[in-house]
This record gives sequence, structure tokens and C-alpha cells, in this order.
Amino acid sequence: MVTMNVLLGRLLVLATLIVLCNSSCYLILKKSNESPNECTDDEGNSHQLNSSWKTKNCMQCDCGKTEISCCSIAAIPMGYNEQKCEAILDDKTCKYKVVERKNPKKTCKFTSSIL
Ligand SMILES: *[C@@H]1O[C@H](CO)[C@@H](O)[C@H](O)[C@H]1NC(C)=O
Repeated sequence: MVTMNVLLGRLLVLATLIVLCNSSCYLILKKSNESPNECTDDEGNSHQLNSSWKTKNCMQCDCGKTEISCCSIAAIPMGYNEQKCEAILDDKTCKYKVVERKNPKKTCKFTSSIL
């Protein structure tokens, strides 16, 4: 059941990201059985109210009373040839690199980055 919820949470997050498209923040509403004084993240770690933490996928999340809000800390590259190239997130440095789809060793130019 827990796994199911996590999975559902991930799907929701994904759906939200797609809907919001260029916006890099999202909210996760806490479950009604969660304490208002702490938040549980994707991996089951607890965080105190008003504290923030970084996730593996380069988001910074803040614990609120009723919700968790997360924003990306990786700037998304814009203005590159999307047919030819794709942006790949390096989750160690939290930076995107833009590489050719056919030849990921080759980098592509991009004009700007947005957060
Ligand atoms: C958390 O932040 C809210 C809003 O700023 C504040 O009202 C509340 O007292 C804070 N709670 C804790 C435990 O720091």
C-alpha cells in the first residue's frame, strides 16, 4: 500500500510537471493522517514543519502544515533545437546538459536557462 501511494505520488508529480510545463514548482498535499508538524518525503524520511530539504532529482522541498512545496534548483536550458537535441539532468551537479539525441557525446548550443 505504501509503495502504491509513493507510485501514485510520483505519477501525480509527473502529471503536474507536464501540466505546468515550464513552471518548475509543484505542491504535494499531505495525507490527512500526516502530522501537521512534519512531512514525509518520497523516501519515507521525516522533515520538521518549515524545514526544507533537497531531493535526489534536484528539487528543494519545503514542509508546510498541509502541503509540501517543491521547486527545481536546476535551471532548464531553453532555445535549443529540440528535434535534434535533448536536455539531460545531471543529478550530481543539478545542471542540465544539452546533447544531440543521436550522438549524446556531442553537446548542443542553447540560448538561455530558466528556473
Ligand atoms: C512555521 O511557519 C509558519 C508561517 O511562517 C509559522 O506561523 C509557524 O509558527 C512556523 N512553525 C514552526 C514550528 O516553526
